[in-house]
Amino acid sequence: MSSMPKSNYRSTKTAFLLLVFLLIVAEQSQAQSSSKSAESPSHARNESNSLSCGIESLYHMDRGVRGAASCATSSCHGGPKAGVSSSEAPRGSEYPLWLEKDPHAQSWKTISSEASAKILSKLGILKDGKIENVTGFQNCLACHNTDRNITETQLSPQIAEGVGCESCHGPSQHWYGSHYQGMASKIQAIQNLGLTDSEPLLQRAKICVTCHVGAKDRDMNHDIIAAGHPALYFDMAVFHEAYPKHWRDKDQDQPNFRSQLWLAGKIASADAELELLESRALKSLPVSVWPELSSYQCNSCHVSLNGLPQPASELNRDLVIRGRAPIRNWNFAGMDALSISTDLAKSDLKDAMDNLRKLLQSPNPDGKLVAAKSQQLRLRWSESWTEHGKPTLPDWSRQSQSALSIELIRDIERSNSWESAAGAYTAIWATHPVSSSGKLEAAMSTMRNGLLYPKDLMTPSFPRKKNGTTPPTLEEWNASLHQVSESLENHDLR
Ligand code: HEC
Ligand code: HEC
Ligand code: HEC
Ligand code: HEC
Repeated sequence: MSSMPKSNYRSTKTAFLLLVFLLIVAEQSQAQSSSKSAESPSHARNESNSLSCGIESLYHMDRGVRGAASCATSSCHGGPKAGVSSSEAPRGSEYPLWLEKDPHAQSWKTISSEASAKILSKLGILKDGKIENVTGFQNCLACHNTDRNITETQLSPQIAEGVGCESCHGPSQHWYGSHYQGMASKIQAIQNLGLTDSEPLLQRAKICVTCHVGAKDRDMNHDIIAAGHPALYFDMAVFHEAYPKHWRDKDQDQPNFRSQLWLAGKIASADAELELLESRALKSLPVSVWPELSSYQCNSCHVSLNGLPQPASELNRDLVIRGRAPIRNWNFAGMDALSISTDLAKSDLKDAMDNLRKLLQSPNPDGKLVAAKSQQLRLRWSESWTEHGKPTLPDWSRQSQSALSIELIRDIERSNSWESAAGAYTAIWATHPVSSSGKLEAAMSTMRNGLLYPKDLMTPSFPRKKNGTTPPTLEEWNASLHQVSESLENHDLR
């Protein structure tokens, strides 16, 4: 990978306005300054099955969780001052930071809110104030709370705290007593006791996608979306930036940090999407439905030929049954990117991907066959970023990111969908565009305004228009795409 000049990066907030909801979080996080104290990134220490990307422990619900409060002793992680990412922030204050600033700590409130009750009632999980479908509710808890152990009589989990420390770091039953006793014990905890290795970006991304995309034990399916849940559109670079971090990354101010994150996120997302596809096709979860509509492009059913949203009464599941809906590509963007831009172009990966697409777009795709093909492709995919048995982030420079972004802008015209435009936008954003002329930022701002949804449209509901946001005209939109391409082609990245 070529070494990039160190930039004077000052967080440009405009860029992540795209996901308006993220902005709220981003506003809270302070500008990140450089750090000298972070440990050097380690390589994957986990020898286990490469498919799991080293974080199988997140699924170890047989292992006990103790809850965030047990990490909060003042001599451990409950230090006196919230440790917002900065070189001065004291370590050991992860707990207060999480409690005060981390959106995940709100997640128990979310799941017990009115909005949640509406979704749960529509799904028939909640009836007359009682949980009627425990496994349905546990699917929600898997993403919204550390603990999902509930009894039928006790309608909240035993530990109700939202997404706590162990949701990301792994259930602590077996490593709680030892993980702080030096590096050797930490490694031992990672290898054998279920502490997740959250430091290497690929493994870190895999943690995030477990909930922000889904996994074999938790599914955001079309039924839940149609009941009012926002569709998930995860992008690691954008979410990582917005997350109020209780750690520091040595490389966080490097201009290629975002493109590294972007790639790590896309690799993990494709892995998660294939994992999901397999479990959906085999209907292995109580909430599974097959064919699963959210594996397909939303706009193929939801937008009519004139581009207007289709009323629910006119929607037709048959498109999938008849093999007419294209597969949803959001989580496969990294696979496409790597197979276009790297040595993988010579490999059979793209063929395998195309075959799976074809199968999914054939009339009434057979679940068992889809599951088998997804599993095969997932193995093939993991080989392409596994070295010596370890998940390893392939070389990916800011220039590769920029070249890919130019491709994606061209794609917008071809597929003419919100997803492709938003995917291009986040890819551009991950090039860390700080242009000297300011033209690039202005063009991106136009793009962003064009991507925000009015309130009354179907999901994705999160990138909502604020009152007073004027959408660009078609002319302005096209000009902005042109300007962004031109800036990228001129390497106007500084
Ligand atoms: C155990 C599941 C889980 C994991 C793991 C997880 N998240 Fe989340 N995340 C959630 C849920 C649920 C929400 C919504 C919180 C709420 O409002 O209730 C959320 C919200 C967020 C938000 C705020 C989005 C918004 O709507 O404002 C950001 C940013 C975020 N997550 C980033 C991350 C990152 C980065 C990682 C990986 C390091 C990660 N998450 C891992 C479940 C998870
Ligand atoms: C695969 C993980 C996953 C599952 C399963 C899941 N959620 Fe969520 N949920 C999220 C994430 C992530 C967000 C935050 C949205 C975002 O930032 O993308 C969220 C947001 C929400 C919100 C806030 C919506 C808003 O408009 O702000 C509610 C309410 C909610 N979830 C309820 C539920 C309920 C009820 C269930 C079960 C029927 C459920 N969730 C299942 C991951 C999940
Ligand atoms: C949304 C996922 C998530 C949650 C929730 C979370 N962490 Fe983390 N944590 C991470 C990631 C990612 C890292 C950075 C990678 C690393 O250094 O291991 C990290 C790093 C850390 C570190 C190492 C800090 C350093 O600078 O070396 C500690 C200690 C820690 N977390 C403790 C906690 C505690 C205690 C809680 C609960 C109060 C918690 N974490 C909640 C994801 C999470
Ligand atoms: C193959 C066609 C098809 C695809 C693809 C599809 N949907 Fe749907 N959608 C439907 C149908 C049919 C309904 C109405 C029946 C139901 O609720 O399942 C619906 C209902 C909905 C509703 C509720 C609408 C309302 O007015 O009540 C939302 C929201 C929704 N879908 C979002 C999505 C999202 C987001 C995606 C992509 C991740 C998606 N859909 C993909 C066919 C589809």
